[in-house]
Amino acid sequence: MRVYCRDLAADDPAGVAAAAQIALDAFAHIPAFCDTYEDALAEVREALEPEKICLAAFAPGGEMLGWVGGMHSYALVWELHPLAVAPAGRWQGVGRALVTALEARIAAAGGLTIQLGTDDEFGGTNLFGQELYPDVLGAAQSLVSVANHPFVFYQKMGFVVTGLVPDANGFGKPDIMMCKRVQG
Ligand SMILES: CC(C)(COP(=O)(O)OP(=O)(O)OC[C@H]1O[C@@H](n2cnc3c(N)ncnc32)[C@H](O)[C@@H]1OP(=O)(O)O)[C@@H](O)C(=O)NCCC(=O)NCCS
Repeated sequence: MRVYCRDLAADDPAGVAAAAQIALDAFAHIPAFCDTYEDALAEVREALEPEKICLAAFAPGGEMLGWVGGMHSYALVWELHPLAVAPAGRWQGVGRALVTALEARIAAAGGLTIQLGTDDEFGGTNLFGQELYPDVLGAAQSLVSVANHPFVFYQKMGFVVTGLVPDANGFGKPDIMMCKRVQG
């Protein structure tokens, strides 16, 4: 699908509401994240804080299909968080368009590395429910998706798994850390 991406504006109530609804729907499978519309709205408002980047993707007809946030973390490192594509808009290149647009913006801002964490709270990988200590890096090398975990999407976008945070969301629910170099 042809999509276009542009900044989401904090003073665009319809846009903010559409982004909140997308986050609510996109993260329905993740407990304790964007559980309610108010939670999702807070997530959008956080991404719209000054100094951060918040981009939304639109269909040719103007319907919002997804959005992504980026924030400076430290030194030349920026963090991608969050990324949400409406369930009906998936598998059509919307996520790719958003990440590509965010990479360009981060590179233009002088960033060199984008980092992200993509949790497995739902059994999306072989590491769900497993004891990862003490060989955490060995576990990271064995990582495979068993149920469409989004780390594979990020790999297709050029991100590399750089580590794991064991038990980030409770025992056996790790966060998968990934990085990518962006070029100016
Ligand atoms: C993950 C997500 C952002 C992907 O968005 P999308 O618009 O469906 O992705 P795209 O259509 O741009 O896909 C780009 C490529 O990744 C692949 N891909 C997309 N989602 C994938 C998944 N879950 N598993 C494996 N591959 C995936 C596509 O097949 C495509 O591959 P190709 O270039 O070889 O054709 C979307 O599924 C989503 O919002 N999920 C819920 C929220 C979420 O998990 N966000 C990320 C949390 S960190």
